[in-house]
Amino acid sequence: MAGELKWRYCSSVLVIVMVLLVKCIYGSRDGQLSAYLREVFLDESGIALNQMVVSNESGTDYVYIGGVSTLYQLDLNLALLQQESTVPSDQTSCENTECLYETKILEVAPAPIGKLVQCGGPEGKCEIRNLMTIAREFGYVNISLVNEGMSVAVLEITESQPLEIFIYVATSIDSNNPGRVHSPITQFEVIQQLNILVPIRIENIREIAAIDSTVEYIQAIPWTIYNFFIVHSGSEHRRLGRLCSENLQDGLNAYSEIILSCQSYSILQSAYIDSNDVLYGVFTDGTHSALCSYAMTDIQERFVDTTCGCVISDDPSCSGTAISYLTTDAICSPSPNTNQSRESIEANYQCGDDEQMLLFSYAQATSSLEGNLLGEALPGEDSSIITLQKENTTVALVTTSSTSNTTLSKIHVFPDHTGRLYETVNLEVIGSVLTDVYINQETEELFTLTTKEVLKLAVVNCSQYKTFAGCIGLNHDGGDPFCGWCTLEQR
Ligand SMILES: *[C@@H]1O[C@H](CO)[C@@H](O)[C@H](O)[C@H]1NC(C)=O
Ligand SMILES: *[C@@H]1O[C@H](CO)[C@@H](O)[C@H](O)[C@H]1NC(C)=O
Ligand SMILES: *[C@@H]1O[C@H](CO)[C@@H](O)[C@H](O)[C@H]1NC(C)=O
Ligand SMILES: *[C@@H]1O[C@H](CO)[C@@H](O)[C@H](O)[C@H]1NC(C)=O
Ligand SMILES: *[C@@H]1O[C@H](CO)[C@@H](O)[C@H](O)[C@H]1NC(C)=O
Ligand SMILES: *[C@@H]1O[C@H](CO)[C@@H](O)[C@H](O)[C@H]1NC(C)=O
Repeated sequence: MAGELKWRYCSSVLVIVMVLLVKCIYGSRDGQLSAYLREVFLDESGIALNQMVVSNESGTDYVYIGGVSTLYQLDLNLALLQQESTVPSDQTSCENTECLYETKILEVAPAPIGKLVQCGGPEGKCEIRNLMTIAREFGYVNISLVNEGMSVAVLEITESQPLEIFIYVATSIDSNNPGRVHSPITQFEVIQQLNILVPIRIENIREIAAIDSTVEYIQAIPWTIYNFFIVHSGSEHRRLGRLCSENLQDGLNAYSEIILSCQSYSILQSAYIDSNDVLYGVFTDGTHSALCSYAMTDIQERFVDTTCGCVISDDPSCSGTAISYLTTDAICSPSPNTNQSRESIEANYQCGDDEQMLLFSYAQATSSLEGNLLGEALPGEDSSIITLQKENTTVALVTTSSTSNTTLSKIHVFPDHTGRLYETVNLEVIGSVLTDVYINQETEELFTLTTKEVLKLAVVNCSQYKTFAGCIGLNHDGGDPFCGWCTLEQR
């Protein structure tokens, strides 16, 4: 009898100790927004925000925000420096009756151009502004980059002289819209001209084939000489498209797509490629989100599998088909008689520029690449993702929005490709998170954009932990990984 009691006593103590340990090591804490929030920007009149870019291209750091019919220039403390309209000065020439101009593209064109490119409105008309002061000075350039749907864009500057600046624009197109433009992805060149009234011309250079069914482009991500796009079409919402800046065929034919997967989460919503060449993808099942990581070497390998699968049929590592939502023009005819090998496709045809040599066009993977699961069951479906890297420590910062809450989840990423969610912070914002996000790696400050507000947040606050010392620095797995470093380095 006594023995039994003792055992019960012991086991309940054991359970408590274990619960405490599990809470310290594996549990995430609920962080207080007040410990991290530095600044907030919102337009009191409730104007919806669309795009954000942070740039020091002018020599000074500015935050540029594109909202509906409005452009804002802020300093790094989110103080408003200038606010400008983006609708035509002559409002009778507005493209819709309400004269509402959503910002669809906001990019900083680097030197030698050194200008802000903003495109919006129903016709996606572009304006050029100075970076130091965004007042309307030049007016619209003579081109519309977007004719329909929402769009995403990446801007790229060539490495070879003369420097050329390209914008790759991917536009969501509904195949049921009879007035639709035909090609969803277009390459434009931004060209400086001597004419001071219109200092910049934007020229349409090339575009991919027309669409056959509805396609949506969610985000554009530049990486080295490649430009990636998150693509949703048909029942496949986990596509990653890739263009190479050296794809100079008229139809950008080497554009290809692979499929990423992250357990049962079936919609890729946002992505980021960090300086360790790891792609972080946030997926959703419609209610919750999950974070997976992929080595860029594996992603590039999968593009080789896909493209060689459209040429060779007798190499089992090669498997590709034609992109399902594009019309004609796709060449994907694997044959056993080709004198090409997987190696020759990899070496010569990933970023090929020769029209005659084209062996495939618009290749699509036949199976998905499974990621390393770093975190799951994060609340909400819309997301943004970026990482903070200090010493050898990487933390993924995933912001997710459900209809009622926006939550920042901090996930410590370990070298063995596992992750530990160590803190969640309810951001208490109105509006839903958008994919544009920025981090200052030196000051460890995160700039998060939602449809209504911009937040500047500290990622780390070790001083708040004084009373929780027991939970911090147990080992590298305990508490805030950056505060672990503080303790170790006694700073
Ligand atoms: C860290 O958090 C504490 C507690 O919320 C707060 O008092 C302190 O101001 C914060 N430190 C910094 C540098 O913001
Ligand atoms: C902008 O910041 C980067 C990184 O801090 C720096 O290398 C670069 O020189 C800066 N550019 C300008 C124009 O100040
Ligand atoms: C705009 O460009 C088109 C073709 O490039 C040209 O025909 C037209 O005259 C231009 N319009 C203006 C106002 O420059
Ligand atoms: C290999 O392919 C090239 C390019 O298509 C062709 O010119 C050459 O004749 C082929 N060689 C053989 C042995 O089939
Ligand atoms: C970081 O990683 C490198 C290589 O793995 C190692 O040599 C170095 O000691 C690490 N630095 C710290 C502070 O752990
Ligand atoms: C969402 O926010 C409400 C109040 O704004 C709060 O009561 C609730 O706990 C939050 N839910 C989560 C999952 O954080």
